[in-house]
Amino acid sequence: MEFAGAIGAPGGPAPGALPTIAFAGRSNVGKSSLINRLLGRTRTAIARVSNRPGKTQEINFYRVRARTDADEPSGPSGVDFEFYLADLPGYGFARVPGALRGRWKPLVEGYLGDPALRGVIQLLDSRHAATVEDVEMLRYLSDHGVPTMVALTKVDKLKGNARRKEMASRLQEITLPEEQVILVSATTGEGCDDLLSSMEELLLAAKSDSDS
Ligand code: GTP
Ligand code: MG
Repeated sequence: MEFAGAIGAPGGPAPGALPTIAFAGRSNVGKSSLINRLLGRTRTAIARVSNRPGKTQEINFYRVRARTDADEPSGPSGVDFEFYLADLPGYGFARVPGALRGRWKPLVEGYLGDPALRGVIQLLDSRHAATVEDVEMLRYLSDHGVPTMVALTKVDKLKGNARRKEMASRLQEITLPEEQVILVSATTGEGCDDLLSSMEELLLAAKSDSDS
């Protein structure tokens, strides 16, 4: 999958309008940075990357035009389609006031029931143990049948042995099969093509389901 441009400004989507992939994860894990990288916005960011973690307390939607790969052997090739990418507010930041934290759960859990949602990319920092909230989030997604991929972020900071060791630890903590886990870096772009392919699968698989 590649992006064909025409990316709308953040804002609410027309309700139920387009299939959506949401990015979830704890505050500061790198959601906005990865979205910018996937959308090719490494110079002029579209998703705000802040040095004040926990600031984003709403769901930001980006309308994306994409095209399936031209040389795709198994699926449709060179087909244009549109979807929304949703940047969910991060959780688990201690300095966020209680009132804001109380808003997170109904907002996100309410959103996760949206019929337009085709899947969630759950981000975990590749270098740090999954938190209780990370594991709870993954269980919630699994319990509610939301197709989920895990992206281990900031992998540019891990080389060789350290990388293998951390990867093994994350797999143990989250108890998901390796096929559902992708190592990514918003800084170098590593893993981004694989992530885009997975997103395309989620978007197109759901489409053929609803057609039948
Ligand atoms: P919230 O909006 O607060 O939930 O945070 P977020 O998950 O959107 O994280 P954000 O993209 O704002 O990134 C947080 C910090 O991590 C920033 O300082 C980024 O520069 C840094 N960062 C993000 N991705 C990477 C990466 O792939 N590699 C490295 N080295 N740093 C990264
Ligand atoms: Mg953010």
